[in-house]
Amino acid sequence: MPLPPGLILRAGTPGDAPFIQRLHEESIRGLGPRCYSRAEVESWASSLTPGGYVRAMTQGGESFLLAEPARNAGGRLAGFCSFTRDEIEGLYVHPRWARRGVGSALLVHAEAAILAGGGRSVRVSASLIGQPLYEKHGYQIVGTRQHRTRMGLIVLIREMEKDLARPAARRRGRR
Ligand SMILES: CC(C)(COP(=O)(O)OP(=O)(O)OC[C@H]1O[C@@H](n2cnc3c(N)ncnc32)[C@H](O)[C@@H]1OP(=O)(O)O)[C@@H](O)C(=O)NCCC(=O)NCCS
Repeated sequence: MPLPPGLILRAGTPGDAPFIQRLHEESIRGLGPRCYSRAEVESWASSLTPGGYVRAMTQGGESFLLAEPARNAGGRLAGFCSFTRDEIEGLYVHPRWARRGVGSALLVHAEAAILAGGGRSVRVSASLIGQPLYEKHGYQIVGTRQHRTRMGLIVLIREMEKDLARPAARRRGRR
């Protein structure tokens, strides 16, 4: 899945944490209202801190993949994906870049990194906003649950999984 022209992908580092936080908040506030109430969106976006991303990178075993304008390296991000050995932890795109393939490109690269690291399947606790993207990329819903946000509100989440070792045609039911 190609990135839109002018964007590059690179690995995130602790120094990127303030930029990741800004992107994270702007993505939730800009794209969240499609499926969630204003209160749910604010609860989801609140209380993010740069230290949370640094801890995720240094203690939580999370890798961060960033999409950013090639001419603006180190500044405003177009999107990010964070993941562990078998789970997508976060996938967020800036509203300005939405629906242009950034989320797909980040997801495809994260899956490739998981596969290269020996992972054979990947799971995600997907927002209702992310669900269509994951379905398009071959993920199956294995459950629905209520998630308590950092500020204590309850939002619906889809538990989804994908078998990375199975060819796409077989996942779609073709033999
Ligand atoms: C979900 C998200 C990452 C998608 O990023 P994106 O860059 O816009 O996604 P893409 O352009 O790669 O879209 C891929 C496919 O996903 C689906 N999709 C994406 N946005 C959609 C929307 N608003 N409505 C319906 N389907 C959508 C479509 O199938 C789309 O393919 P198409 O454009 O060919 O129809 C982005 O909307 C986002 O950051 N949302 C807020 C945060 C969030 O909920 N993240 C998921 C957390 S698990």
